[in-house]
Amino acid sequence: MDWNKEYQTGGYRVWHTGKVSAELVAIVTVFQPERVLDVGAGIGTEVKYLQEMGIDTVGLDISLEACRTNLLVCGTALKLPFFEERFDLVTDRGLFHHLVKTEAYEYVSEVFRVLTKHGRLLLRVARSMIDEKILWDVFSSRFNIKVSSFTSQFGAGEVEMYMLIGEKREIRNCGT
Ligand SMILES: C[S@@+](CC[C@H](N)C(=O)[O-])C[C@H]1O[C@@H](n2cnc3c(N)ncnc32)[C@H](O)[C@@H]1O
Repeated sequence: MDWNKEYQTGGYRVWHTGKVSAELVAIVTVFQPERVLDVGAGIGTEVKYLQEMGIDTVGLDISLEACRTNLLVCGTALKLPFFEERFDLVTDRGLFHHLVKTEAYEYVSEVFRVLTKHGRLLLRVARSMIDEKILWDVFSSRFNIKVSSFTSQFGAGEVEMYMLIGEKREIRNCGT
């Protein structure tokens, strides 16, 4: 997809809600993260909410147009420009389901790298665009995960979504 074009022509309104989703509010309330990364932040609605809550939050997007107009870091989720263990929550609404399988593995290893020990991932994906088994395959070696399905407002309509919450696993070296 040509993401810049979507932002230049207003095509982004297909998915854009302008609202913060209830699951993000809930996770922030329960886990009280201190440093958050929103990957594929779009026009930054959820970034602004988190910053207004006083949480140190960075939004990252691949679209220069989205970054330029919304003061986000421009880059790819497949090579995150951040140090190890920088964030205690990574959140994604609507990016992951656009990745092909090889990219999905790069994504999970980058998210894992920038999360603190026991850091969490909140992922929201459209059910029609992904298989639950693929979610488990991709994330289960790096995260303890819970997946649930629910209906969410997305753009003008309602979309059935998967919400995955992952807690970073401790990977032990089993060398000699
Ligand atoms: C469906 S939109 C969702 C935007 C926002 N999270 C929201 O809820 O409105 C997906 C976003 O992911 C961004 N994106 C796609 N591939 C990306 C990648 N590899 N790295 C970073 N951002 C990416 C797009 O530019 C777009 O802004």
